[in-house]
Formats: sequence, C-alpha cells, structure tokens
Amino acid sequence: MKLNLLEVKNVYYYYTAGKSLVRAVDGVSLTLPPGGALGLVGESGSGKSTLGKLIAGLLVPQRGRIIFSGRQVAGVQRAVQYVFQNSTAALNPRMRVEALVAEGVEAGRKCPRRERKKQVLATLAAVGLPPEVLDRYPGQLSGGQRQRVALARALAAEPKLLLLDEPVSSLDVTAGARLLALLLKVRKTHHLSYLLISHDLAVVRQVCTHVAVMYAGKIVETGPVAAVFSRPGHYYTRLLLAAHPVPDPAERLQVEIVGEVCDPARIPAGCRFHPRCIRAEAVCRRRPPARQELGDGHSVTCHFAAKKSLPGVFP
Ligand SMILES: Nc1ncnc2c1ncn2[C@@H]1O[C@H](COP(=O)(O)OP(=O)(O)O)[C@@H](O)[C@H]1O
Ligand code: SF4
Ligand SMILES: [Mg+2]
Repeated sequence: MKLNLLEVKNVYYYYTAGKSLVRAVDGVSLTLPPGGALGLVGESGSGKSTLGKLIAGLLVPQRGRIIFSGRQVAGVQRAVQYVFQNSTAALNPRMRVEALVAEGVEAGRKCPRRERKKQVLATLAAVGLPPEVLDRYPGQLSGGQRQRVALARALAAEPKLLLLDEPVSSLDVTAGARLLALLLKVRKTHHLSYLLISHDLAVVRQVCTHVAVMYAGKIVETGPVAAVFSRPGHYYTRLLLAAHPVPDPAERLQVEIVGEVCDPARIPAGCRFHPRCIRAEAVCRRRPPARQELGDGHSVTCHFAAKKSLPGVFP
C-alpha cells in the first residue's frame, strides 16, 4: 500500500477569546496521497486557516497528531510550504524580490551565491515572472505578481507539499484564472502535492483531485472531487454547491444558502449543522452523526448520508 503523504489524525485546536473557548478545529481527520491535490472548502470562520497552520507546523495541535511522510510534524519544515492568504502582508515590504526568493532557495539547501541567483531566476521563470522584477519591492508589483513572488519563494524551498490559503481571493478574475492555470502547471513540473484552502468551490473543482468540506471545526464530507460535486451527500455541501451555481442553467440548483456559520464559541449539540439543515430530525439535535463511508473514499458525516434520494434540494 502506498504511504499517505499527509495524515491528520483526530486533531483539535481551540483558541481562548476572553472567557469563551473557540473550537476552531474540533476533531479533524484527513489524508492526502502523494501527488494529490486536496481542496479544503467551507465558509469563512469554519477553521480552514487554523487547520492549514497546524499542518504547516505553525501551530501545535492540542490533541491528535499530524503525520507527514511517515513522521510526526513538530514545527515548521522545508518540505511543507505555506502560502498565506494575503501575500501583501506576508512579503516583507522592505526586501527586493531577489532577496525574498533567495530566502526560499536557502531554506531548501545551501548553495554558492552565483548558483543561488540562477535558482532565483529559474524559479521566477517557472511562475511566469520576468528577470526585471528582481530589483523591485513588493509594493511595486501588481497583486497577481505578488502572489507569484510568494509562490516562487515557496517553490524555491523545493517542498513536497504546498499549502495555499485562498490563493486567488484577493485577485481579479483574470489574474485569478492565470494563477490557477499556473498552479496546475507547477504541480506537474515540480512534482508537488497541494492543500488548497478556498471558500470558492469553482476554484477547487478546477485545481483539485480531492475535496474536504469543513463546517464549524469539523470535516463533514470528503472524497474525490468528481464524486462529491456530482453526488454531494451532506446538506452543507449541497448548500455550498447551490451558492456557487454551475455554468449550465439546467444543472443549476434553486437553493439559496441560508443562515450563518455557527459561532465556534457556541457550537450546537448533536449535529452542529442542524439549525441550518432542511432535513434535520430529532436525532440530529441529540446525537452527533458518525462518519459514513459511501465507497471510493467518499465519506459523509450525517445521520442520513446513506439514503439516496434526499427530498427538498435535489431532483
Ligand atoms: N488567534 C485567534 N484567536 C481567537 N480566535 C481565533 C484566532 N484565529 C482564528 N480564530 C477564530 O477561529 C475560528 C476559525 O478561524 P479560521 O481558522 O481563520 O477560519 P477560516 O480560515 O475558515 O475562515 C473563527 O471563529 C476565528 O474567529
Ligand atoms: S445529521 Fe441531521 S442535521 Fe446534520 S446534516 Fe445530517 S440531516 Fe442535517
Ligand atoms: Mg482563512
């Protein structure tokens, strides 16, 4: 059996905010095979970035384990590079592009100065940036170029896993589409695996092989992109899909996303999604649902996941 590149095993991370406990990551398990691209989706506040930081070693799980390439993650490591949501804030504004990317090269391996410059230029070329940007500061670049510099800096460290947190959300449509095409390309050329965090399902559909849907600190559905998007088993996934209609109007779902993501400091008993679920029954208010396997790696955490025809939302 092939070893998973990444295994997240029953991981918890709670923040304290004043007197309340924010259950940001509340018992998450997931796996990523080598070469896979996993999309982590969910509304804002569902715990995606916290989970990303735990995987990157920037936060330490309070319970549970994260195994990368067979070893438990303990702190930041070169093989896992995290590209932050907001590249403008993440890149030191007082460093030129050359120095920023050179830092990535140095994180990868020691090399003589002349070779380092060659590496920087090659990495910039790989992300479609011309040598002219070497002497520029982040403030002198466009948003799309800054994201490419952040990506180049991460790639230069020769990681095995790239964590991309909302990589296109700050870009306009054209720059976003170009960056996505680039992500598809570098995944192949650099033999990378991705964990791509996004609230936009269209982005995940385009770039990922697998998807995990997160709601209020838990993964509610996971599986291959094709299976989850064509036969979503959880009502939350259905709502998300309905809120991001597919281009073909015949397939468009006539549902609007209702309610708001629950406050992670006040998570409801039973199934935490029940206040927003059109299918909720008494059992949902009493008992948290267990994960149910639907086959081919597709799993859903819902009391009624196995029932094929679910009323109300889909034909
Ligand atoms: N440093 C922090 N201190 C307290 N609460 C936090 C902190 N960071 C995030 N949170 C809270 O944890 C929850 C999950 O946040 P986050 O992981 O950023 O979610 P997402 O990336 O899905 O938007 C949110 O309710 C957020 O307000
Ligand atoms: S367990 Fe109940 S409330 Fe939760 S998603 Fe399933 S049907 Fe809805
Ligand atoms: Mg986030």
